[in-house]
Amino acid sequence: MNTRDLSAHTVYRAGRGIEEVARELGLDPEEMVKLASNENMFGPSPLAVEAIRESAERMHHYPKSSHADLVEALADLWDVDSEQVWLGNGGDGALDCLARAMLAPGDEVLVPSPGFAYYAMSARYHHGEVAEYTLSKADDFAQTADVVLKDYDGERIVYLTSPHNPTGAEFTTDAVREIAEETDEETLVVVDEAYGEFTDTESKRPLLDERDDVALLRTFSKAYGLAGIRLGYAVVPESWADAFARINTPFSASELACRAGLAALSDDDHVERSVETADWAREYIAENLAAPTWESTGNFILAEVGDASAVADAAQERGVIIRDCSSFGLPECIRITCGTEEDTERAISVLNEVIEVVEA
Ligand SMILES: Cc1ncc(COP(=O)(O)O)c(C=O)c1O
Repeated sequence: MNTRDLSAHTVYRAGRGIEEVARELGLDPEEMVKLASNENMFGPSPLAVEAIRESAERMHHYPKSSHADLVEALADLWDVDSEQVWLGNGGDGALDCLARAMLAPGDEVLVPSPGFAYYAMSARYHHGEVAEYTLSKADDFAQTADVVLKDYDGERIVYLTSPHNPTGAEFTTDAVREIAEETDEETLVVVDEAYGEFTDTESKRPLLDERDDVALLRTFSKAYGLAGIRLGYAVVPESWADAFARINTPFSASELACRAGLAALSDDDHVERSVETADWAREYIAENLAAPTWESTGNFILAEVGDASAVADAAQERGVIIRDCSSFGLPECIRITCGTEEDTERAISVLNEVIEVVEA
């Protein structure tokens, strides 16, 4: 018995949690600072926590009304029909839905390099092939229409990330429009706005009124602090929105997720505080880290530290976990998630110590 040929697939290994790392290093998990996964520094929205507690008693039911209510609320938020909101098990799950709806075996997709690994993984799970466009470090990872179109060769899906993970760079709406215009009619441009709440730049949502080949991706994992509940969604153009009913896993977003999502959507204070603190942290890191950084509009910042793996290991031994970007193809860079003031200040002080030691 064999699986199909999975040799081209990347093995996904989740980063280790704080408890696991603390146990291994003999440190107290309470004293560790984890700024490695772009999670929310304030935890989940308190209203979402309350909603999860309250709905626990109803877990014997399938999520019917909660699913419908959340879709309705999101449709209101984005001013689209409810059919156009495709809920998934995290933004990752929504990416899977888009791949399932679009890709026939052997179809190609175009993904950014460096970039978020799951675009390619999802395409391969759905029998697709993967090509890359290069974001150039020499150009500060600038995201322009030319950068994408230069490497475009008729792929079925083009993934754009704005703000981009891990660089923090953005696309303008005009650039996305140009990419959609210059690519084939049957090429879908997915604009991943997982970090969209953290930037002052407008969402690319208006393009969905102009065209039928642009879709958005959004998540509750970042600004809403619900990474553990796994809730995200795509907003798709009206003309093919009904495809969801043909490709969706029944009840792909759980009752808990839907209830938590609904509550979090109404918690403006939590989002506002998270966004303001991320603004502060980005500035603090850029000013105080003893290494060059790139301008970012996400809740994280990329920095060039020389030997990223040595810096990440040494910081971890001192209780600070940040992301070594070697797996993004940037072995000289780390990505630091914006934390609370206390956590960010501690992380930068430890990182400055270890950068000096590693450089010496
Ligand atoms: C750029 C980008 N897109 C999508 C996601 C998916 O997040 P989730 O599946 O938690 O919604 C992430 C998560 O880190 C991300 O960085």
